[in-house]
Amino acid sequence: MAEDLTTGGTVRPITRWGAPVMHAPTRPVTEFGDDLHVLVRDMWATMRAAEGVGLAATQVGEDVSVFVFECPDEDGVVHRGVVCNPELVLPTGKDRELDASEEGCLSWPGGYQSVARPNRATVRGHDADGEPIELHGTGLLARCFQHETDHLNGTVFGDRLSARARRKLDEQASELAYRYPDDWPVSPKASAAPLPSGE
Ligand code: NI
Repeated sequence: MAEDLTTGGTVRPITRWGAPVMHAPTRPVTEFGDDLHVLVRDMWATMRAAEGVGLAATQVGEDVSVFVFECPDEDGVVHRGVVCNPELVLPTGKDRELDASEEGCLSWPGGYQSVARPNRATVRGHDADGEPIELHGTGLLARCFQHETDHLNGTVFGDRLSARARRKLDEQASELAYRYPDDWPVSPKASAAPLPSGE
């Protein structure tokens, strides 16, 4: 039986957009040994500390093609796993239906904007032991597979927005930046400031 890699990791600071590692394609995973497993455990610990549904290796500063996810599908069923070297297969023709739900990113915390993406996605790759896998996602899980694979190709969802939506996203994130210490989630998120009196 494969090792449980969802426990035993160390929470790491989450890398923000603007750091070079977030904006360049990653190296494929070629060794499925201890170094990878340590990284994957740290990614699980970090994703859970940040209460995220997915996390790519670039978000802990590592230039390697692996993501973890713990995310509900359109029926509310939570799926969890590890995907190395992901390749997306998206529906085409009459099977292609776009969903324009709001999207956020742990590497730009506090900003949410609508991004139209196919509501179904298949991802192919390898698990943490190098076995080939193929996973099918619906709803938020389909969005997660696309968002995390984008990260490993050096694309952040802000790159997929119009200039106007991108400005709004940046404003939202800067308004809430005070809540996220530089090493978040190693240091916890600060509580929301009280509303000014008289409002
Ligand atoms: Ni992200």
